Formats: sequence, structure tokens, C-alpha cells
Amino acid sequence: MPLAMRIHRYGGPEELVADTVAATPPRAGEIRIRHTAIGVNYTDIHARRGDYVESRVLTGPATIGMEGIGVVEAVGAGVTRFAVGARVGYAARPLGAYCEARNFPADACVAIPDGVPDDVAAASLLKGMTVEYLIRRVHRVAPGEVVVFHAAAGGVGTIAGQWFRALGAQAVGIVGSAEKAELARQNGYAHVFVQGRDDWPARVRELTGGAGVAAVYDSVGRTTWDGSLACLAPRGWMVCFGNSSGEVPPVSLNRLREKSLVLTWTRLGEFTATPAELDACATTFFAMVTAGAIRPRVQQAFPLARAADAHRLLEARGTTGSLVLVP
Ligand SMILES: NC(=O)c1ccc[n+]([C@@H]2O[C@H](COP(=O)([O-])OP(=O)(O)OC[C@H]3O[C@@H](n4cnc5c(N)ncnc54)[C@H](OP(=O)(O)O)[C@@H]3O)[C@@H](O)[C@H]2O)c1
Repeated sequence: MPLAMRIHRYGGPEELVADTVAATPPRAGEIRIRHTAIGVNYTDIHARRGDYVESRVLTGPATIGMEGIGVVEAVGAGVTRFAVGARVGYAARPLGAYCEARNFPADACVAIPDGVPDDVAAASLLKGMTVEYLIRRVHRVAPGEVVVFHAAAGGVGTIAGQWFRALGAQAVGIVGSAEKAELARQNGYAHVFVQGRDDWPARVRELTGGAGVAAVYDSVGRTTWDGSLACLAPRGWMVCFGNSSGEVPPVSLNRLREKSLVLTWTRLGEFTATPAELDACATTFFAMVTAGAIRPRVQQAFPLARAADAHRLLEARGTTGSLVLVP
């Protein structure tokens, strides 16, 4: 029976326990995927901790994980999108990627291009599609434009930096340490400031001659919210897409009135909701990878059974680039 890393209750990394689960044939519209590599994402930490009210849905033991790469072992009734033997990946709900094999809706999977190895795909499908929708479809970043991106040395952040460089944008990365600053520079950020060391909102205003930036992409949340607003130019875009440091407390709309700001909180799922949109998003991202413009950084691969160790590292801000699990 396939191994699955499950939680039986919300809590710390120690709650991830190795269970075996019965394999069932795929239902109509599903494919059965034998995983070859599994992506680790910060959202998995939130799922394990039960941070978000809307995702506290645990009614029994549950496998977490939103991103898997593998080979199709069986197809359910009505599936024409993939055949047995196809290399596929997904970055979507329902949760359950931390396992050797599972069933998943075929419409929510994409084909993995031949030139992209399994570990690279697992390190980048979710994060790369996130960057695609953030910088091309939420606020479209223009060549030469100055924007701020938080957690610039992280999984999403390193891919974003390389994409900004390819676009010719002047991205400002915010990171948590001097070592991460160096890595962010290597990954395409034109300027990098260290949270806790630099007065980064002031430095951002300085380097834009007091004008501020067109957009701030903020996945850190509680600790960066105020500084991010201060960085923005009039009519700037405040794009919230994560809460790594905790949720932003309720805010007054009057904060936006000061500079006619646009505020949004976006999620990948709403930008890949149909097979056509999903395929376009993945194809655009993988084209950047196969062209060599983006080289996703696989920092470390852990055996699936050591998923808790991967969580400890990610949660302690100890990662640069991406972690993957290998079944
Ligand atoms: N909404 C969406 O569509 C979407 C999709 C994908 C990811 N996300 C979000 O994007 C963010 C990045 O995801 P990722 O998987 O690539 O993770 P990651 O950036 O590799 O890791 C999170 C980073 O956040 C920073 N951070 C700042 N304060 C923190 C704190 N108090 N605790 C922990 N980390 C803190 C750390 O970088 P420094 O040490 O450099 O500060 C840390 O390395 C996450 O918030 C994730 O939930 C959102």
C-alpha cells in the first residue's frame, strides 16, 4: 500500500506521520499518478498548522501537499487529456500530494515538457505559475519598471527575480539576511534590502527619487504590510499573496485613500481555474525554463518520510530556493 505523510491533528512538524493508505481506482475524470517528486510550499505549513479558518477542514487523518509530479498509471472514465505513461504535474487542491501515489482530477493537471526534470518541475510548477499570474496578470510589470518583491531569496522569490531580469524590470528584493541578499542579487534583483537591518521603505523611496514603486508583491504579511504601503507610488498596486509572518490585522480603507492605491489579495487557484487558463499559465512558465531564462533552484531533496524535516527548515526561514520530497 502507498506511503502517505498525514496529519491526524493540526500542529507542529511532528504531526506529519507516515501512514499507508489503500490505493483505489481513479473515478470518472480522474487519473492515478505515481509521484516521482513532490513540491514543498509554504502553504503546506499553513495546512499542517490549520492557520486559515477556511482551510480548517480536518475531519480525520489527512494527507497534505498541493504539488506533485509523476507518471499516469491509470485513467478514469471519460479522461482524454492524458494517457497511461504520460508525465504530468499539478499545483492545486484537493490537498494530498505528500504520498507515493494518488488519484487527481485530470483537468487540473498539466503535461511536463521533456526538457524539464522531475525534481525541477516539483521545485517550480506551483511557484512559477504563481509568478506568471502575479507579474503578468495581476499587475503587468513593464520593462524598466521598479517593483518590490518580498522573500526574494525564497522559492517563489528566486523565480520572480529571474523573470524580472528577463523582462528588464528593476526589481527590489527584500530578504531576511545578508547571505540571502547576495543570492537574491544573483537571481536578478537590481537592488536588495535586508529586513531588520535596512530601513527598506525609506531606501525604496530614495532610489525612486521619492516617487515610490508601481507595485509591491507581499507574501510576508503582518510584519511588512506598513512598510510595503509606504513604498508605493500614487496609484500603486499592493498585491498581497501570502502570510508567512502572520495575517495582516484588519485595515481601514482610508489607508488606500492617501495615495489612490489598488489593494488585492490573490490566489493561484483563481488564476488557473479552467484547463485553458491552467495550460496557458504552465506553458508560459515552462517556456521560460526551457529557454534557460529561469533556472529553478532545488536547494534540497528529502525522502518523503522526512517531510517534517523539510517543514522545519522552511518554517525557520532556513531555505533559499525550493525543497522537494522524493517518494
Ligand atoms: N497566493 C498564492 O497564489 C501563492 C502561491 C504560492 C505561494 N504563496 C505564498 O508565497 C510565499 C512564498 O512561498 P514559498 O513556498 O516560496 O516560501 P519561501 O518564500 O521559500 O519561504 C517563506 C519566506 O518568507 C520569509 N519570512 C518572513 N517572515 C517570516 C516569518 N515570520 N516566518 C517564516 N518566514 C518568513 C522568509 O524569507 P526571509 O528570511 O528572506 O524573510 C522565508 O524564507 C508564502 O507566503 C506562500 O504562502 C502564495
